[in-house]
Amino acid sequence: MERSIDQNNPLKSLEDWEDFVVSRYPEENVQSAKEREDYRNYDNPARDTVREFYRLNHTYQTFDFVRAKEKEYLGLNRKEMSIWEAAEFLNNLVDDSDPDIDLSQLQHLLQTSESIRADGHPDWFVLTGFIHDLGKILCLFGEPQWAVVGDTFPVGCRYSDKIVYPEFFQHNPDSQNEQYQKKLGVYEEGCGLKNVHLSWGHDEYLYHVVKDYLPEPALYMIRYHSFYPAHREGEYDYLMDDHDRDMFKWVNKFNPYDLYSKSPEPPNAEKLRPYYEDLIAKYFPAKVRF
Ligand SMILES: [Fe+2]
Ligand SMILES: [Fe+2]
Repeated sequence: MERSIDQNNPLKSLEDWEDFVVSRYPEENVQSAKEREDYRNYDNPARDTVREFYRLNHTYQTFDFVRAKEKEYLGLNRKEMSIWEAAEFLNNLVDDSDPDIDLSQLQHLLQTSESIRADGHPDWFVLTGFIHDLGKILCLFGEPQWAVVGDTFPVGCRYSDKIVYPEFFQHNPDSQNEQYQKKLGVYEEGCGLKNVHLSWGHDEYLYHVVKDYLPEPALYMIRYHSFYPAHREGEYDYLMDDHDRDMFKWVNKFNPYDLYSKSPEPPNAEKLRPYYEDLIAKYFPAKVRF
């Protein structure tokens, strides 16, 4: 069936972005080498849609856009639901990719959390794996893909050239703003990431939803898991304080579970549900504001 192309949402599925990240930061094994090969393949249509996705992301994620989205969403007055309901709600994201190949959003969450659990990590870490992408419900609130996923980066200061497809920043109006293109831009050296505005997406949004309920390492994992320029490339150290550096150890611990958790059998959500409902109840109230 021919897919009609939505110009604002070039990706066939949000996973196309995640697959791209895996190909950019491969786990050193045979499977990833193959995935890397797939990405170099010029016949791979996903490659072009990912490029177009980054073009939109880098063009429209301006400092003002980010501030406006913060105002729009961080009052958390869209919806009240339980964490499990939010995971099911996220599953309404209908991807028109091949259902035989792609996992549902809920399955990605469960694969991530089940691998964390299998390695014997504390329960809050398992819970973090289970919820880390719930912020993608922004798509269901009408946000385009480029304002939901994508590697995040600071706005209001110079772009790192380690950000993927840096050439697209030339289309961003902020690239013409002299102050925003200084190394520190609107920030101060070592000011700490809590004072830095990152490009808008599912990380920042979910952080605000859950910030009263989870231990701090969990909050760092959630808030910065897409901040690849920092946690994989080591960029923007000059915006961090020592506490950020310390907490980024947890972000790095989390990242492989997000990228490389692939179990041969898709997790059985109904079977796992009682365990996760108990775990959710330990940390969260019955209803959470989104
Ligand atoms: Fe994510
Ligand atoms: Fe994820």
